[in-house]
Amino acid sequence: MLAFDLSMAPTPESLDERRAALSELNAGVGACRACALGLSRTRAVPGEGPADAEIMFIGEGPGYYEDQQGRPFVGAAGQFLEELLESIGLKRTDVFIANVIKCRPPGNRDPLPEEIGACSGWLSRQLAIVQPKLIVTLGRYSLARFLPGTPIGKAHGQARRVNGAWVVPMYHPAAALHQGSLRQPIEDDFRKIPAYLEQARRDAESGEARPALAAAAPAATQMKLL
Ligand code: URA
Repeated sequence: MLAFDLSMAPTPESLDERRAALSELNAGVGACRACALGLSRTRAVPGEGPADAEIMFIGEGPGYYEDQQGRPFVGAAGQFLEELLESIGLKRTDVFIANVIKCRPPGNRDPLPEEIGACSGWLSRQLAIVQPKLIVTLGRYSLARFLPGTPIGKAHGQARRVNGAWVVPMYHPAAALHQGSLRQPIEDDFRKIPAYLEQARRDAESGEARPALAAAAPAATQMKLL
């Protein structure tokens, strides 16, 4: 069971309310025993960033260093993520960084479907609180959360609207570290983020795009830039 009933939680409005809601969520994740990972982890890794971040990056789950420190993307993949952010004029403190699952699977194995299911409410709640204009999925588990069954090789770098939220699938930075041929595509995909964000801002102003509340969803519209 989750530490509180997410369906009953009100959607926060002001920045203070959003910050308070994130603190409450972090405490809930820290106490969560909804799956066995809650027993094997060293520290839970809820995610971090501004409560009103315009962009949310969503990875797979904590690895060794994240589990030790309780913070997302602090290992080699995190260093590369920071370089990629810098390449488009962003710092990691400008964006929200989260994961599909909040606790490290032993030995960094892939997360199990039941672990992903047990954890899913926490990410939904983060999306409802932060309401990012742009969601960037990092890797296939994160992509599957929003666009199930979509191959990353086809979808990467293209923004799509999923239940009113703009989602941009990207390769996982760790994949690019292990497979050199993915480095260029991920760098190229990152360069598209500022234009996608501009478009998402325009949509938000015109009321076309709704804040990101959704989990998996079917029909998606592709963002056309210029
Ligand atoms: N990989 C992820 O997907 N998430 C992290 O937090 C670190 C590495």
